[in-house]
Parts: sequence; structure tokens; C-alpha cells
Amino acid sequence: MADRASDADIVSIPKVELHIHLNGSITEATALTLARRHGVDPAEGLKLVDGRYPGRYPNFEGFLDAYLAANQFVRTPDDLELVAAEFARGQAAQSIAYSEIIFTAMIFVRNGMEPASMWAALRRGLAVGGPDTRISIVVDAIRDLGAEEAAATVRLVEAADAPIVGLCLTGIEGTMPVETFLPFRADARRLGLGFTVHAGEMGPPESVEASLDVLGAERIGHGVAAIRDPALLERLIRDQVVLDVCPSSNVGIGEYPSLEAHPMTEFWRRGVRMTISSDDPPFFGTTLTDELRHLVRIAGLTRGDLITLQRRAIDASFADAATRAAVRARIDAWADA
Ligand code: ADE
Ligand code: ZN
Repeated sequence: MADRASDADIVSIPKVELHIHLNGSITEATALTLARRHGVDPAEGLKLVDGRYPGRYPNFEGFLDAYLAANQFVRTPDDLELVAAEFARGQAAQSIAYSEIIFTAMIFVRNGMEPASMWAALRRGLAVGGPDTRISIVVDAIRDLGAEEAAATVRLVEAADAPIVGLCLTGIEGTMPVETFLPFRADARRLGLGFTVHAGEMGPPESVEASLDVLGAERIGHGVAAIRDPALLERLIRDQVVLDVCPSSNVGIGEYPSLEAHPMTEFWRRGVRMTISSDDPPFFGTTLTDELRHLVRIAGLTRGDLITLQRRAIDASFADAATRAAVRARIDAWADA
């Protein structure tokens, strides 16, 4: 049997990350910098953020408190450029050749940012990673906020000058019937964009089924609830449905007691077509490199498996053909070296 992948392999392989929220990539230090920049009273605003990045939360709502607190300080295009540049530098430092970032544009618009300046700041910040750190954007609507929020999101996307490749539904499953988002799904088709849905994260297996059958999701964010439904698991394996799995995030909101108890190992062994991502990395005390380390340590992936995982991720991305070919060539070159 081949040896498990070495740490040097995990660090150096050109990586692909499909499920990472820019809004969830604001570090604690940057949140505090921005709070001070805006003269937020430390006794009030800062206490929402300061020391609130434990990596573990009692539940999803606990995570959301810290996440929304950090996001409220990103108010100007300069703030967003800082967040995006820090993000891009971090991806470059991890040899992440392609990232698909989930971007909740409406949060920043509600914070007072003018849309054209917001997109320009985002482009400037993301460019800091350099040409080998390709980054595309998937714009999400928070499902709890309903159909009008989704429609407003689409209007922003239609007017945007930015490398947007998809739409996404995030937020708390079950807060709205999935049919609420049929127009959002139709808009993705009309605009030629990919479509992905967070499902089976805290919600039940039926939430994954509805995302596939009602909304025609092309990828599922998380999908870990499928482990509780043998028929659904069989279907995901048979149809090779792509699940963008974020282990530390699921543990961090209390869905699983440990990474060892997380379904990633069984998914891998059974042949679920999963990709690995970090979701909201500083909030869960992780990085993509760390997530891959966990999978290699717990499920025993080899160097070849690691290559398979990255090839699979770029093939499942919403990137254009030229980008996919360029990233695949980098992975192939690394594999042959
Ligand atoms: N928004 C940011 N992170 C999220 C997650 N893990 N689930 C749903 N919505 C999110
Ligand atoms: Zn997510």
C-alpha cells in the first residue's frame, strides 16, 4: 500500500478551494483594525469581536454572532480592499492555484458601500495574490432573508464588473421553503452562471435532496447530513454529485464532536465525489492546508489521492475552460515532477 501523503506534499501541491466565504475570512486582527478605524467604542462594538474567535461555537448561531460582528466593520471600499488583499495573500502563501470565493455582496451594500466602488475594491484586493493565485467569485444570497434579498443580489450581479462565475444559497436551512428560490435559480441559468447550495450542513438529508431535485444545484456546500441516509448516500455516489466539504466548520458549530467523528473518512472510502475547503477559516481556526492535513491524517490519503482531490476540484469548479486547463496543467506538472 502506498504511503500517506507527506506534509511537504500537502504544503506544495497546487491547491483548489471551492468553498470559502470572503465575509468569513476577516481575521480578528483586521476586524479590530477596522473597528478602530471607524471609531467604534471599544466597550461596545469591539466586545462583539474581541476574543470571539475560539474556533468552536455552541451552534451555528454562535458562529454567526462573531461573523456578523466582524462584517459590520467592513464599511468602505478601502476596508474591503484590505480584507480581500489579506485573503489573496493567504491563498498565495498556501499555493492555492484557484479559489472560488463566496461573497455576500448585500452585507457590504447594507453597510453603506456603493456597488461599483465595492466591486472595484474587491478586484484590486484580490489581484494582490498575483497571476498564479486565480480567484473567481460566487455571489450568495442568505436564505433566511427570503426572495427579495435574492432578487436584490441578482440586480447587483447584473450590474457588476467582476469575475463572477456563480450564484449560491447560504444561511440557515429550513428558514424558507426552497421553492422561494426558484427565481434565483432561474436567474443563474439566464446569466450563464453556476449554481450551488449550502445544504445538509445543519439541515436534514431532505434538504440535500430538495437542493438537487427542486433547485437543480450543480454542487452542494457541505452535504454531510447524507451520512444519515443510506439511500441518499448511494445516490450521491452513483450520480457523482460534488460535495464541497468543510470538516473544521462542521465540528466548529457542534455538528460533530471531533474531526475523527466527521463523515469525511467514510465519504472518501465510499467514493463520494467530495472536495475539501475551509469555509470561514479564521473563525474555525483553520486553513485549506490544515483541512487537507486532517483528511490525510485521519483517512490516510496518499500523494496520488491528494492529486486526485485537486484535479476533481478544478474539474468541478465554475471557472472557464482556459482557467481550468491552466490550473490542471499546474497540478499535472507538480504530479510529474
Ligand atoms: N455563511 C457563512 N458561513 C456559512 C455556513 N457555514 N453555512 C451557512 N451560511 C454561511
Ligand atoms: Zn459555507
